[in-house]
Amino acid sequence: MTGDKPTMGADPFERNWMRFSIGLLLVFAAVITVAAFAMGFAVPGEHERVDPRTVTQSGPFATPGVKEIGPGEFEAYVVSRTFAFDPAEIVIPQGAKVTIYVTSVDVQHGFKITDTNVNMQVVPGHVSKLSYTFDRIGVFPYICTEYCGIAHAAMSGTVKVVPADEFEGGGA
Ligand code: CUA
Repeated sequence: MTGDKPTMGADPFERNWMRFSIGLLLVFAAVITVAAFAMGFAVPGEHERVDPRTVTQSGPFATPGVKEIGPGEFEAYVVSRTFAFDPAEIVIPQGAKVTIYVTSVDVQHGFKITDTNVNMQVVPGHVSKLSYTFDRIGVFPYICTEYCGIAHAAMSGTVKVVPADEFEGGGA
């Protein structure tokens, strides 16, 4: 029975299946690679990774606060630490579109601005980012929403939205 067809390797049908299987494996590997890569940059609210031990030594978190980056456009950098936000006050003119960046130098905190949809988790090593346009004049407290220790409930600050003609620029 042996030796009737001394073919080298597999028959064409089997060879096609092998090609198909290898192709499938390559597709899976590609999908996993792409998914892992993409997911690393797609965590909601996450802007970028930072080192919580050095994040306040240089770069924008070294001088937290709000600044105008264009007409009516602002950037606010906020450092969270037990049990305070730095800065504790953000002053902006009515209608300001503010992109808020928040990070933590110690444990996990939350950052929620009352009466807005700004509500972020703040995780050490990460920068959370959200933009919001403040159309209403008033005082909007921001609070920590993640239990972070004994004085968690006292961890807060305020956004003050003032009439545009009263705004002096740069914040408090
Ligand atoms: Cu910070 Cu609770």
